[in-house]
Amino acid sequence: MKILGIETSCDETAASVVEDGVKELAFVVASSKDFHEKTGGVVPEIAARKQVEFIIPVLDQVFSTVPKEDIDAIAVTQGPGLIGSLIVGIEAAKALSLALNKPLIAVNHLVAHFYANFLNYSADAIKFPALVLVVSGGHTDLVLMHSHGNLEHLGSTIDDAAGEAFDKTARILGIGDYLGGVKLSQKAAECKENTLAGTLPRPMLDKDNYDFSFSGLKTATKRVVEKAESGELGDLAEKYSVEALACEFETAVVDVLVGKAIKAASDFNVKSLLLGGGVAANIPLRTRLQNETASLGIPLFLPELRLCGDNASTVASAGFFNQKFVDFEDLSPNPSLTITD
Ligand code: KG4
Ligand code: ZN
Repeated sequence: MKILGIETSCDETAASVVEDGVKELAFVVASSKDFHEKTGGVVPEIAARKQVEFIIPVLDQVFSTVPKEDIDAIAVTQGPGLIGSLIVGIEAAKALSLALNKPLIAVNHLVAHFYANFLNYSADAIKFPALVLVVSGGHTDLVLMHSHGNLEHLGSTIDDAAGEAFDKTARILGIGDYLGGVKLSQKAAECKENTLAGTLPRPMLDKDNYDFSFSGLKTATKRVVEKAESGELGDLAEKYSVEALACEFETAVVDVLVGKAIKAASDFNVKSLLLGGGVAANIPLRTRLQNETASLGIPLFLPELRLCGDNASTVASAGFFNQKFVDFEDLSPNPSLTITD
């Protein structure tokens, strides 16, 4: 079964064709990131206008690889996301559904991130129950996947998402104003030794639950920067550098994410551990998960880097494994869809 996936939840306009949930036949992503760089954040109105501009060329590019007549169904992101952006993908999907007489499948954007792991693996390589750690700019969640479509939400962040904390802290450190998470991680990699090891908190790591909190960590980092600027670091002054602080911040986030994921994986005796979302591209996070799951014997699945961010192959794959067909008139955007909706 060949499914056309369409993803327009935020600032990426993406379309893919995936066969039987795992084999990518076409993959196209256009992004309006460059426009948001100038404003230091996504302006929803600009993101929506760019979606309108990009959607037809992106679909045309996909159809130049896979003829539209070969498609069996159309899967589209229903939410969560920006309303103006979501509408563009949904209306395009509806128009194609009418023109080609193909069924529509509604996909939850957060669940789509899980399926970066199923793509290009054989469909049954991932054993259930699986634990999924979703870490993106807007979400940080631990989800128990009993089977496709049977999800149990274990916990989430009570304030900032992991990616949001990376981005806000990058701004505090003067490393980057927009999507600074990647730049912060690059800065941290320049640090040869974490001279500030253990100086930042590991929020909620010792709490007996599966929730996260990153807002206090960001504030603690800000306090160190302020003290450095006003010459009040005391003993730490000689150990301080932006690289070391970036490294310590990243290590603290990774400690908490990995600690909670391993706790949940052990508590629920899962057969696989999956990572998803934009922050899944973070190298220290991937390495630590690899090391810790290897010593515990838990099979770990990490998405290809190109599939960590928003794309439509994950939407097509999620559509195949969760064939939630919807009638044309019942499909509308839902900006606040939750993971288990
Ligand atoms: O999933 P995604 O592409 O968009 C959302 O749905 O939110 O995630 C984007 C987030 C941003 O906060 C970005 O800074 C973060 O993922 N991110 C990273 C890395 N690559 C992307 N954070 C830390 N290290 C990275 N290598
Ligand atoms: Zn996303």
